[in-house]
Amino acid sequence: MAERPSVKDILAAARKGGAVKPTDAAELVAAPAPEPTLEATAIEATTVAPTVAAVAPPLGRPMTLKEKLAAARVGATPAAASAPVAAAPVAATASGEIEKAVPAPAPSLGRPMTLKEKLAASRGATVPAGASVAPAATPSAMSAAVPKTAVARELPPLAEITDPKDLAEALRQAGAKKDREVAGAIAKAAPVRPGAKPKAEAKTVPGRPSKTAALSESTAESGPSRRTVLKFPWVVAGWASFTLGLTAFTAMLGRFMFPNVLAEPPSTVKVGVPSDFAKEDVSERWKAEWGFWIVRTERFNGQDILFALQSVCTHLGCPPNWLAGEQKFKCPCHGSGFYISGVNFEGPAPRPLERFRVAIADDGQIIVDKSQKFQEELAQWTDPDSFLAAV
Ligand code: FES
Repeated sequence: MAERPSVKDILAAARKGGAVKPTDAAELVAAPAPEPTLEATAIEATTVAPTVAAVAPPLGRPMTLKEKLAAARVGATPAAASAPVAAAPVAATASGEIEKAVPAPAPSLGRPMTLKEKLAASRGATVPAGASVAPAATPSAMSAAVPKTAVARELPPLAEITDPKDLAEALRQAGAKKDREVAGAIAKAAPVRPGAKPKAEAKTVPGRPSKTAALSESTAESGPSRRTVLKFPWVVAGWASFTLGLTAFTAMLGRFMFPNVLAEPPSTVKVGVPSDFAKEDVSERWKAEWGFWIVRTERFNGQDILFALQSVCTHLGCPPNWLAGEQKFKCPCHGSGFYISGVNFEGPAPRPLERFRVAIADDGQIIVDKSQKFQEELAQWTDPDSFLAAV
């Protein structure tokens, strides 16, 4: 029977990666455990964490994929991960979730921790007793200490990856690819910015129409055809009625522009020769039909004259009456009185009566023209056309 190896030998063999013979292992398990020496206890306390002992694979078998992934996360090298004792930094929980159990590197007692040991300690590893913890490393120093993975490196299929670094790189590339896909989807779903010009749509240029088609279209646009008109005679009748009505309205409007009576009564009248009228007398023969008196008198300016005096009151237009006994014209409306000469002297009448134009015709008769008047207040009675000498 071979001599049983001590714990120290087993640990040394595990660090080297060598397998312990099953027989030796069985003997090691069956044999009572020797009393650990103080040195061995110190080594176990500083090198093997309790979790490592719980999840360590059987000596001699290769690491599983989960174990490799955990080793890659803590930065262990494949060689170290394959070591039977120093590797196996992974502990599987009851729920199947992988829990990191980073074995704290075992520095020599009294020496400061290395950067790798500090990283492992910050991820949850137990700081070995007796190791002096140096001040925390700066982020730049930590990033510099972490090995960088090659960016463009040809990787084998995921199922065939055995190197934890390759596995980590494959996972990183897969994550980056997924990020690019998500960014592309967001860019497609993003709305168009207000200032952005819309993409010009492709236009389809229609072909050149034939002459027959163009002729038929122009005929259709010009109006209804003869057959269509004949189909709807009431349309023709309506348009004819509208045209006739418009013509009649235009004719009536033109007729309205002209007076109904074109002939006016003559404004002149012959009243006889001057010798037909007596002195200081008023002839009322033409008052009713023509609206004037023929007066012969010397009481206006001392001369024997004849004139035609309008029979309209200058107050409000009533026809006055000649009162031969009183030798005056008297208005029946408001009582205005006028001398035989026509000058007002009583009542509300504001001014004398008016005269018409008189003249001697070729036959010697007196012609009275009603189209022209003469007013005393305007000094028009001195006009030669406003009177005639009786002699
Ligand atoms: Fe002749 Fe008034 S109308 S006095």
